[in-house]
Amino acid sequence: MSTSPADPHLPAVHLRPPRNWINDPNGLVFHDGYYHVFFQYNPHGPQHANMHWGHYRSPDLINWEPLPVALTPTPGGYDADGCYSGNAVSDGNRMVAFYSAHRADRWWQPVTTAESHDNGHTWTKRPHLLIPEPPAGTTMYRDPYVWRQDERWRMLVGSALDDGRAAAQLYESDDLEHWTYRGPFHTSDTATGTGPIGWECPQYATFGDRSALILSDWTPQGGPSHTSVVPGREKDGRFEAATAPVPLDHGPDFYAPALLKVPGEDRWLMWGWAWEARDHAWAHEAGWAGVLTLPREVSLAADGTVLQRPARELLALRGPRIFNGTGHVTRHEPIEIGQVGHTFDLTAALVPDTTGTSGLRLITSADGSEYLDIGLDPTAGRLVVDRTHASPDVRARGGAYVAPCPAAARPNVPVELRVIVDRSIAEVYLADEQVLTLRFYPSTDGPWRLQARTTGSGRSEFAVAAWNLAPQDIREAQPARWA
Ligand code: FRU
Repeated sequence: MSTSPADPHLPAVHLRPPRNWINDPNGLVFHDGYYHVFFQYNPHGPQHANMHWGHYRSPDLINWEPLPVALTPTPGGYDADGCYSGNAVSDGNRMVAFYSAHRADRWWQPVTTAESHDNGHTWTKRPHLLIPEPPAGTTMYRDPYVWRQDERWRMLVGSALDDGRAAAQLYESDDLEHWTYRGPFHTSDTATGTGPIGWECPQYATFGDRSALILSDWTPQGGPSHTSVVPGREKDGRFEAATAPVPLDHGPDFYAPALLKVPGEDRWLMWGWAWEARDHAWAHEAGWAGVLTLPREVSLAADGTVLQRPARELLALRGPRIFNGTGHVTRHEPIEIGQVGHTFDLTAALVPDTTGTSGLRLITSADGSEYLDIGLDPTAGRLVVDRTHASPDVRARGGAYVAPCPAAARPNVPVELRVIVDRSIAEVYLADEQVLTLRFYPSTDGPWRLQARTTGSGRSEFAVAAWNLAPQDIREAQPARWA
């Protein structure tokens, strides 16, 4: 497979096979000296169907090696219509994957397991379901998340309750085999009718005696889906939220993230699923859909804010610095900062123009009609990423998206941004704290350039450095091998 994909929208450093459908990251675990990333994968086409677990591993978060497809639905079996999401743990000798067994003739996806004794090359499924029935009063149930805490194994499963609340259900085990139900670990407040109906893919990160729950809101019939994070701490087997849920990512194309604890370090990594912002017909033409985000480091600030920044290992993807510019702009004089490749990483310190929106424009067509705007809006104190003019094809969604940024309203104080763009995905990090992920689809394959600009009557100062990123040879997952 070529290292430089011919499809100009196929990301070059974000993890995904070169063809077919992917959605959630699954089973993230460090085992035998490798980071293992599994993911919801349809090896037969670019649509959500017949879900398998694809598999990559990496010693360094940079070089990814495809391993055989780990989980394949068993015809006639308890997972005949899909091996849905879950996670995996390592006990040193083996990896055990916990997943949701999907059959079209049942509304819930019971938990089951498969294990590998050869570092993920072959997997053996448990002959029977591990948790065959959801607790009473449940109307949706799937996506186990297993972790080790206080000498026990614990599991959360995403669910919805028949009173309309969303819940993360808690189980405990001493041996990964026998599980005791402990009740809901956390539920949404009330059934509002507009809130989440259920939680998919609950994830739990501990930071000393504090912790954070990550919840992907599920609304049936295609309602808005997004992911929230709730900081808090555990008390008597229940999670006590310190604040209301806040968005984990402020972009429109981020969902179902999963966590990996780096062993021996106090560090959590997280990957999410960035879905397509183009319609199915176009994805079908392209032959692929979905991409995983870059791995992010997740931490908790002293005030409980959940912080995110690109994993430090990703600095190794940078080639030589392509520019390092400083200057200032006024409305009448946008500044050309420089040319960038189609996969690049930049840092920017922007002193906002407090009289209008100021920031960066990534121009992706020679005539300047196609561009992605990344700006600081001082009146509302927010970051705005506007893709209205970024994808000329009407089959792609547009729109402007915002993240809170009170510093945008403060004169003379630089706002730090880190922006990683990879062909059709942009991850915009604000001060190593908030992040906004979105997809866009430029129509031409010519050079891209970066401008600084402002709509205000004052001026904005900028210091911007950029690096092109080395494309990675991310090959297709190998066909499944059987134990
Ligand atoms: C989240 C999700 C999970 C499910 C999987 C199926 O995107 O709906 O709840 O297990 O995807 O692919």
